[in-house]
Amino acid sequence: MAHFDKINGKFKGKDILSLDQFTPKDLEIIFSFTDKTKEIAKNAQHSHVLSGNIVTLLFYEPSSRTFGSFAAAIKQLGGQTIDILNPQQFSSVVKGETLEDTIRVFEAYSDAIVIRHSDIGTAQKAAEAASFVPVINAGDGIGEHPTQALLDLYTIFEKFGRLDNLTAVIAGDLLNGRTVHSLIRGLSLYKNNTIYLLSPKELKLSVYDKDTFIKSGIKLIEIQNEVDLPADAHFWYWTRVQKERFQNEKTYQAVKNKFIVTPEMLKKYGSKDMILMHPLPRVGEILPVIDEDPRAVYLKSQIRNGMYIRMALIALVLGKL
Ligand code: CP
Repeated sequence: MAHFDKINGKFKGKDILSLDQFTPKDLEIIFSFTDKTKEIAKNAQHSHVLSGNIVTLLFYEPSSRTFGSFAAAIKQLGGQTIDILNPQQFSSVVKGETLEDTIRVFEAYSDAIVIRHSDIGTAQKAAEAASFVPVINAGDGIGEHPTQALLDLYTIFEKFGRLDNLTAVIAGDLLNGRTVHSLIRGLSLYKNNTIYLLSPKELKLSVYDKDTFIKSGIKLIEIQNEVDLPADAHFWYWTRVQKERFQNEKTYQAVKNKFIVTPEMLKKYGSKDMILMHPLPRVGEILPVIDEDPRAVYLKSQIRNGMYIRMALIALVLGKL
């Protein structure tokens, strides 16, 4: 099991690799700065907080939101980015450059490295290779996606004013979904949260993950049928089945879209005051007609919060706040 350097209120220079590094106090700090970065972005203020800073965005896997919102966040604060998309094709990785050497190169050019990779543990490897600059995990295979969880938790906090005493439904690919793994870690930091985990049996949390989360004190209830959904959930967090993690198409087809959010499902099991979240992309598991429902936040506040929270995080890690 990996041991991560705790933040304990000191963000400057820290690698951000897992939600296990955070305490509720750390989340309070980042949320309070996010309230401010939201105003900077909304009011199109010219910020110079990251003036003179360059951040490398090193994405070995495709991304719309994480890449786009990190790039926007850094530019909103007056910084610049080196954008390395698909380094397997467009960098010297093609010629056999190792991950460690790639990291050493880009730490010479920039003040932080944001990395996404298909292999679990790669962000940690990158952090070990970097001697001078912090590394931020933008998703490591089926491992974690800590910055997504930060924006998800901020979105929940914005709605309910708390992160404890909540009932949630998390649905979809719980085995492979890194956003889910980080979100459950985040919710485990608070008291009295109950999570209903809805998935096909093939895509349940791994035994290791489930045991780890239960040890942290969170109540998990695994269900495989929508009739078992609770009527009083504060939020639903739907996810897609991660096609890219399957060995063959047939196995994927057998489990994809077992649970689709429809108006009927929302009417029958959803509460009036809940919110419906999704890290996106979606590939059929929430019908487009749901987008108009005021409870659906995945294309609204949840998306925008991704940029605001990353503005706050990058500025904190670079010691600019
Ligand atoms: N939520 C998320 O990680 O989306 P992208 O894969 O588009 O970055």
